[in-house]
Amino acid sequence: MGSLIINGDNKLEGVVKVSGSKNSALPILASTILTGREYIIKNVPDIDDVRRMLEILTLLGCKANYDNGICYINTKGLDTYDITDELSKKLRSSIIFLGPMLCRNNIAKITYPGGCDIGSRPIDLHLSGLRQLGVDVKEEGDFVLCKANNPHSGDVKLNYPSVGATENLMLFAVGLCGKTRILNAAKEPEIIDLQNYLNSCGYNLIGAGTEIITIYGNDNEVPDNVEEYSIMSDRIEAGTYLAIAAATKSKICLKSIEKEHMKCIINLYKKVGCLIDDVGDYIYIINNGRINAIDKVVTSPYPGFPTDLQAQVMSSLCIAKGISIIDETVFENRFKHVKELNKMGANIKVDGTLAIIKGVNKLHGANVNIRDLRGGAALIIAALSAEGISTLTNIHHVFRGYEHLIDKLTEIGADVKISE
Ligand code: UD1
Repeated sequence: MGSLIINGDNKLEGVVKVSGSKNSALPILASTILTGREYIIKNVPDIDDVRRMLEILTLLGCKANYDNGICYINTKGLDTYDITDELSKKLRSSIIFLGPMLCRNNIAKITYPGGCDIGSRPIDLHLSGLRQLGVDVKEEGDFVLCKANNPHSGDVKLNYPSVGATENLMLFAVGLCGKTRILNAAKEPEIIDLQNYLNSCGYNLIGAGTEIITIYGNDNEVPDNVEEYSIMSDRIEAGTYLAIAAATKSKICLKSIEKEHMKCIINLYKKVGCLIDDVGDYIYIINNGRINAIDKVVTSPYPGFPTDLQAQVMSSLCIAKGISIIDETVFENRFKHVKELNKMGANIKVDGTLAIIKGVNKLHGANVNIRDLRGGAALIIAALSAEGISTLTNIHHVFRGYEHLIDKLTEIGADVKISE
């Protein structure tokens, strides 16, 4: 897939239906290998990361089909414990297979997830957590071999509330006898969705959304019925459309949102001058003029400001009145969009984890290169607000995580098209 061409500076107006959450869908799809059963998972976003997850499941011997937002999965045929280099390269989140694979087979081998464009993404917290539950971990060259030789429940302490490590530990601990507690667990809403999903499958977990998650193992006794579950809506996609409205001085209504997960981003845009109202599962945002700068936005684990919205918010602050500062404390290399935003007339300086954004009156169109998913969303926002035409190369990064992006933008009046 080639480039995205955006003719910017249009006022946008209309309703956007928010899709199912990517970061909920991926661990839930991985967790289907826990036991060889049939699953029906609904509200799954039609995005490249989901397609890759289904490809991996198929290559592991499972049946996985997608039709109109619904995944039909049967994991009875799982015939390997090896997440090979080929599979782990397909998706950085493939590490999430480690916990459920160990739970199902007592053994799992995984090639280190490849280097990442937003940071090194180590897996030490995943491995140390599994060790605390009696898993022998051998790191050999570029792969890790894990054997659950002495699996036992108990307390597992994470030194940092890693989302992926929390999920992996939940997905291993459901198969243990007795009570496991994950201390300093990640509190993200997607963790709650995973807990709800697992409980709907017959497991017994409580505490997701707080810093202690308790998992009552049920000795591998799991029911064999067909499970149906609907994924929660994507707070990051919703936040991205709020940033679009703020940057393009537009009026957008978001449908199917879970607003209690979006307090940080809603408060931020209220603070800088947007009108935001919510009714039921709708949010309305209206922005009529230049937004104000904001003293400091610090990304941190939930309920802090999400790192996954840092780039999009930065993009909208490029044309704010005054100077804003963003402190990225979660990933060490998440400012790759800055150089490209500056090509469009933004005035951003990076100093370690800080980005200092001096608001300018207007951005202008430019040829820019997308380096990662959320940075790509930021460049789209900038191009939508800019005067003139922008060409964004490597648009495939964005299709990893935004469902029907071109259609959704076109429906609210944006002038966007793909060029091969
Ligand atoms: C998940 C999300 C991602 C989001 C991130 C933080 C999915 C599929 N992805 O990623 O979109 O940006 O949470 O909200 O849900 N770390 C370690 N050692 C580890 C694990 C993590 O040092 O073993 C570090 C990472 O390098 C990073 C920080 O912890 O600096 C946060 O990572 P983590 O919460 O694990 O993020 P992911 O689960 O990879």
